[in-house]
Amino acid sequence: MDLQKLLNEMTLEEKIGQCVQLSGEYFGMNGEITGPLEGYELSDEQIFSAGSVLGVTGAASVRKLQTAYLEKSRLKIPLMFMADIVHGYETIFPIPLAMSSSFDPKLIQKTAEVTAKESYAAGCHVTFAPMVDVARDARWGRVLEGNGEDYRLSSLFAKAYVEGFQSTGIANKDTLIACVKHFAAYGAVESGREYNTVDMSERVLREFYLPPYKAALDAGAMMVMTSFNTINSIPATVNKWLMRDVLRGEYNFKNVVISDWGAVKEPIAHGVCKDLDDAGIKAMIAGCDIEMSSPCYFVGLKKAVETGVLAEAIIDEATLRILQMKKDLGLFENPFRGCDEEREKAIILSEEHQQVALEAALNSIVLLQNNHNVLPLMKKTKLAIVGPNAMERELNGGWSWRGHADNNLLLCEVLKAEFEILYVGERFFTDQVKHADYIIYAGGEKQDMSGEAHSRSDITLPFNQAQELEELAKLNLPIIFINYSGRPIAMTDMYQNVEAIVQAWFLGTMTNQAVGQVLTGAYNPSGKLTISFPRNVGQCPIFYNVNNTGRPYSPENVEYVSKYIDVENDPLFVFGHGLNYGNVEITNISQPEIVNEQISFEVTCMNKSERPTTEVLQVYFRDLVADVVRPVQELIKFEKITVEPNEQITSKFVIEYSELAYVNLNNEYQIDAGEIKFMVGFASNMTTEFLIEI
Ligand code: GLC
Repeated sequence: MDLQKLLNEMTLEEKIGQCVQLSGEYFGMNGEITGPLEGYELSDEQIFSAGSVLGVTGAASVRKLQTAYLEKSRLKIPLMFMADIVHGYETIFPIPLAMSSSFDPKLIQKTAEVTAKESYAAGCHVTFAPMVDVARDARWGRVLEGNGEDYRLSSLFAKAYVEGFQSTGIANKDTLIACVKHFAAYGAVESGREYNTVDMSERVLREFYLPPYKAALDAGAMMVMTSFNTINSIPATVNKWLMRDVLRGEYNFKNVVISDWGAVKEPIAHGVCKDLDDAGIKAMIAGCDIEMSSPCYFVGLKKAVETGVLAEAIIDEATLRILQMKKDLGLFENPFRGCDEEREKAIILSEEHQQVALEAALNSIVLLQNNHNVLPLMKKTKLAIVGPNAMERELNGGWSWRGHADNNLLLCEVLKAEFEILYVGERFFTDQVKHADYIIYAGGEKQDMSGEAHSRSDITLPFNQAQELEELAKLNLPIIFINYSGRPIAMTDMYQNVEAIVQAWFLGTMTNQAVGQVLTGAYNPSGKLTISFPRNVGQCPIFYNVNNTGRPYSPENVEYVSKYIDVENDPLFVFGHGLNYGNVEITNISQPEIVNEQISFEVTCMNKSERPTTEVLQVYFRDLVADVVRPVQELIKFEKITVEPNEQITSKFVIEYSELAYVNLNNEYQIDAGEIKFMVGFASNMTTEFLIEI
């Protein structure tokens, strides 16, 4: 297929059409709706010129729409099908924030491979994932979609997702184009309020927010989605510096940029564009190839070209990129790429895929508290299962619109084989539960309390759970609190009333099977937090890799220092925290060696318990003196180790000087000679320290 020749045959209207994405209902198809549906008046001709569609999936639907579309398409250019397949197609994996707690890029990649396989059979071409916005504020509902507060971890996981979705190339079977989002820095919205302003220095943007997008691109992500927020007071979607200079210039990105839903139009509300025409022209000039779900390109671009305001060459360039993507997908040879109803039946939600979902769910659970080793539960005991999620099957988590929550098991259905269940119910009287050996409180949030457009200003437990737990505590029975949530919850008002806290997140198809295995001890929990759990909402944003102040707090130094008068500075549960049922200890750290600008040392761990135990050994560093203020600690390496009872395992860490670099005031990476402090441990606040001179 000679794309230049095809482009030459296209009318200006047809080219503009390629640069527009409509949701399924314009074509009379049901699908996913993720923004305001404003019902723009579009002609049939415009609709059937749109180059891509959002949210129509399933082999039969895709086949039907593609057939109808091609019948009307003068040049027979196939439609591209895109959707938000964020943590699984129908086999739903844990929300990405939970998956990041696994500290396991290989497992993440495996979930993305399964996702791609199911989506491929369902005719989907592009997924709007991974979302790699670094997020430090638990009020923001979308923390669930990302990989937490650390940009290095997020970069690693971004790569894993992209390699899982795209495999060795999208010409192959069972692959899906990855669209990394939301470019850029959407996770830093002020006050954690959705769609809000982002404002930060370019240095901070480059050091802490851009790397995960870059990592996804380096791994080959073929599409980028712009974000809703401003960058340096210009909305990302019309931000020429961001897309032309940084993304295309510095990162050499050659593929397609798509706007977020309705985001081309939104600079009008921001007050930097006067009308639809103006917004469309500015977005196209800034480098946004596809407009998703708003009408600016249809309304304004043709006139702009005809009046000489916009060079047609810019639209040609965007159109060519889109056509190239269709060619790379093989759509010109086979517009029904992947679509296979038989295969859909055979592989979607297959036993094998559910096993991957279980493995992912198990690895994502974080045991936050386990006083007196109350967990695992003693066998054959009597349980009362109460709380707002006691009878809840909607546990897949946001962005699982193709999932089937109805099939998910209740916790009592999972536990009934091994325990006597005395009582199950969201509501209860203490008389109904007082004869139990344990109270399992299935609490947290409801699934729809996090996700897009679901920021909260109060991130304590909703529905009077803290009061209910206070009442229950009077029974003097061990209470096991299961926190199903899409974000960190501030638990100061209740954690002392419960013995154990299991952070269950929303884990997808196998949520309660995994929670059950952790409760019984069939699985020894291994997850670690990648986001801080604040003590109260006033601490937000809160994150571990903070800068030191000029007046740091220390227990010896408490007056006129940087602290609150009503709460500690640190979170309730820190980054990297996560308990297990074993006891792995660090028994030795070798003398570090430096050769060829590489620092290496070995850490030996021993399991002093009776159970095989998985730990995440974490290495942090602090650059003690630099030209700019550096964080008090930054995770630089980790290794997930499984240690048998009485076994010793030695892990070797090799750190290149270049990995210690930071962005200087000229926005370039710099590394200085001087002292570096290293911290090694199993959580960010539980470390052994040593100094190295570089
Ligand atoms: C949204 C989201 C984005 C998603 C898009 C398409 O509003 O911000 O993440 O991919 O719509 O559904």
